Amino acid sequence: MTAEIFPKEKTIDLRKKHIGPSCKVFFSHDPIKIVRAKGQYMYDENGVRYLDCINNVAHVGHSHPMVVKAGAEQMELLNTNSRFLHDNLVQYAQRLQATLPEKLSVCYFVNSGSEANDLALRLAWEYTGHKDVITLDNAYHGHVSSLINISPYKFHQLANAEQSKSVHVALSPDLYRGNYRQDHPDPATAYADDVNNLIQKAHEKGHKVAAFIAESLQSCGGQVIPPAGYFQKVAQHVHRAGGLFIADEVQVGFGRVGTHFWAFQLQGEDFVPDIVTMGKPIGNGHPMSCVVTTREVAEAFKNSGMEYFNTFGGNPVSCAIGLAVLDVIEKEDLQGNALRVGGYLTRLLEQQKEKHPLVGDIRGRGLFVGAELVRDRVKLTPATAEAQDIIYKLKEQHILLSADGPHRNVLKFKPPMCFSEEDADMVVEKIDQILTDIEKALGLQMPSTVHTKNGSRKRNVQPEENGCHHSNGIGHSCDTSQQHASQQNKRLRP
Ligand SMILES: Cc1ncc(COP(=O)(O)O)c(C=O)c1O
Repeated sequence: MTAEIFPKEKTIDLRKKHIGPSCKVFFSHDPIKIVRAKGQYMYDENGVRYLDCINNVAHVGHSHPMVVKAGAEQMELLNTNSRFLHDNLVQYAQRLQATLPEKLSVCYFVNSGSEANDLALRLAWEYTGHKDVITLDNAYHGHVSSLINISPYKFHQLANAEQSKSVHVALSPDLYRGNYRQDHPDPATAYADDVNNLIQKAHEKGHKVAAFIAESLQSCGGQVIPPAGYFQKVAQHVHRAGGLFIADEVQVGFGRVGTHFWAFQLQGEDFVPDIVTMGKPIGNGHPMSCVVTTREVAEAFKNSGMEYFNTFGGNPVSCAIGLAVLDVIEKEDLQGNALRVGGYLTRLLEQQKEKHPLVGDIRGRGLFVGAELVRDRVKLTPATAEAQDIIYKLKEQHILLSADGPHRNVLKFKPPMCFSEEDADMVVEKIDQILTDIEKALGLQMPSTVHTKNGSRKRNVQPEENGCHHSNGIGHSCDTSQQHASQQNKRLRP
């Protein structure tokens, strides 16, 4: 198959002419044209190889032959909608269910993460009869109107955005930069109490809460790992108010966190959401997604009297692809690889933190890892420009990484799950060199001792957790100002 139809300049011209200008490209001053990909590598029109550290859609590796074959074979035979009986649909639902707690047993197949979250809201509204939604600060849940409303990551970008009166924004449970940090005696309770306060305030205004929605680990929000026990406590408050807990696994599901198949399971076996939404990795690039919920919620949705029909959701081709993705995860032990290589990558990055003052915090689970860059480890001044500099310099060296979070200063790793230790060595070695150059130019040096604002020296190194050591940085007194990245620091959205 011809990989390139037009010369790159012509592609750029046609894109400017015919594609909506809000659809941005990576590296706009010198965009990359990718014509093929394999595993964790992508190739441009000249055959130059790029290491992909960010694409969690190509979960089992770009263009995985088993996934391609499964899709092509089924397409040759039949593709149709779910109004006909087909074994792929029920077999796939059965296989997905087997990865989840028993009570999450009913699937709705849809086509994108946005569709999944939109349907999750509809389920919650119908089941509870309530309207209000609690979301986390800096969250992103999708591009359709109902989700822009609950995505502070997006609506904060609009100067005069008016927040919907039925949407309430809870504190992001960020132990590094948030209101309650590593040195707080019980951040899980403190952050959950914030959700409870929002519920009480909604009640005072005569509103009722339909759902709390959160990514199991915040991705666009800056690779935030909520404290264990937080979801259980939030679920108690939300259930008491008659609402449901929606776990958005669009970015972080399907074994990425290494120790578990679903990231919400990191919270403990006693936590089970009422609705789980899936997307990105589910089809390894094929547009498909899923909402899984309980029988009770599904029955309430049915009792509304409205049929749910989705032209493409759950078609035999998508289900064949979904089944192949599950097969590859299992056959190639990709969850195990995420645990091993993710732990290795995290340890390498921890070493960078010991060496480079710009590295403020390393946090992650499996192959979902963030490195937060700060200009000052006490004030936590975001090193936004430096993070962007690293991304651009890595690109020049054919490595694709991104920076995200409210200040766009968190280097975010979420590579295809076949990422290797050699890949980790290569990217961290290059980051090391770039950091050395930047710090030299800025005259930054590693402080001999680091002090908190109250003067005490503090370092929190947690014990071995999920196969790797996590040092969660320095305890800080609370800085409640949540400044958002300036307009010019806005970068590509997910
Ligand atoms: C956490 C989360 N949920 C939902 C979505 C929306 O998914 P999609 O772009 O497939 O509609 C995204 C997309 O980036 C996401 O990151």
